[in-house]
Amino acid sequence: MEVGAFDTKDVLALPRPENVPADRVFDFDIYREIPDGMDFHAFWRAIMEQAPHRLMWTPHNDGHWIALTAELSDIVMSEPERFSNNTVLVPKAAGEAYRLIPLSLDPPEHRPFRTLLNENLGPKPLKPIEQAIVDLSAELIDGFKDRGHCDFVEDFAEQLPVTIFMMLVDLPLADLPKLKHLADQFTRPDGSMTYPEVLEAFREYLTPVIAARRNGDGEDMISRMVKGQIEGRELSEIEALNICTQVLVGGLDTVVNMLGFTFSYLARDTKLRRAIASDPALINDALLEFFRRFPVVTSSREVRADVEFDGVTLRQGDMVMSSTIVVSMDTGMNADPLDFRLQRPGRKHSTFGKGSHTCPGAHLARMEMKIVLQEWFARIPEFRLGEDRPLAYTNGIVGSVKPFTLVWDV
Ligand code: HEM
Repeated sequence: MEVGAFDTKDVLALPRPENVPADRVFDFDIYREIPDGMDFHAFWRAIMEQAPHRLMWTPHNDGHWIALTAELSDIVMSEPERFSNNTVLVPKAAGEAYRLIPLSLDPPEHRPFRTLLNENLGPKPLKPIEQAIVDLSAELIDGFKDRGHCDFVEDFAEQLPVTIFMMLVDLPLADLPKLKHLADQFTRPDGSMTYPEVLEAFREYLTPVIAARRNGDGEDMISRMVKGQIEGRELSEIEALNICTQVLVGGLDTVVNMLGFTFSYLARDTKLRRAIASDPALINDALLEFFRRFPVVTSSREVRADVEFDGVTLRQGDMVMSSTIVVSMDTGMNADPLDFRLQRPGRKHSTFGKGSHTCPGAHLARMEMKIVLQEWFARIPEFRLGEDRPLAYTNGIVGSVKPFTLVWDV
């Protein structure tokens, strides 16, 4: 399928660094809208098919490389000796302002912060929240069930994970719109704020919260983290601020979008819907494939020192983009990757990342997705897409489905 992203005639005319061969240049902008009527993951698949090389370079967003096979993507994500987390966002000039912990740290500095996060996001600390996820899912669905329709993103996907998250960190729900807006500026910036402005807004919001919790007796996740120890010492002010901001950014956006992709797909796959409705135990298998089929995160790394990679010279400081979407959509890893298959031998994905930065929120994400599917199918087993608007998607560091309508018979 033609995606209209390969008019190399125009982009070839733009200046490029001396280490970029002409046949590696293509026209790709991570923040550009997905063409109307095109499926989000099919767009990425088409880019992979049309690119003449596994590693391409685009002049957009200050100019950066992008890995277009699973093998290269996984290497870029997980080899800090060559690809540093010093800068993880493009454009690089903006990404340099994003110094959050632990994502911007390489080993060995990364490890103790990561241990602190793992201690707070593992199955044990999350056990008490499980019933709250069940209750809130049920309450939200019961709230619109008799209406016969809902705006899935606004009425459900944007409500559940973020409300649960606000409970975990014990922040008032009234602050949610503000925090969600700020978190979105990192992943799908709308141009209203620069990254330093976003960081400053997080700092203003979190500084009094952190100060209060350091001295309080709270058991919420922020309290536990800011009172935690890093190699036998307390976190500094700036470390506490950066790790809390990182958790807010990671936790406010991703599950929302995973839910959007999953339910907009379920609404179109009658066979799968009916299979799950008649045997809810299939949710476990379905979840494995939902995570494989609907990756959303695209990250980047900074080249540590001049290095040969895929037949070209990468210069120290070059940015290389690595997308979890590319891994799932690689035909060498998953045959017919756009197909949803409950049974998929040798299924391969890096939806939660690869290497030492692999998502610490994966357990929470899986738990939420599973509970939502169980509670939804118990109440609304049969549903379809509303015809009021077509499905549309936004690209970015975290891809998303724009609001859409689900309808069902009442
Ligand atoms: C379906 C949901 C989610 C997906 C697909 C996802 C995906 C990812 C990916 C791909 C990375 C690695 C990024 C990189 O290496 O550049 C990552 C890291 C991270 N995620 Fe998630 N995530 C999800 C949910 C969450 C949740 C719910 C939280 C918090 C509660 C969270 C917190 C984080 C943090 C703090 C990091 C940085 C870890 C580090 O640098 O060691 N994520 N996530």
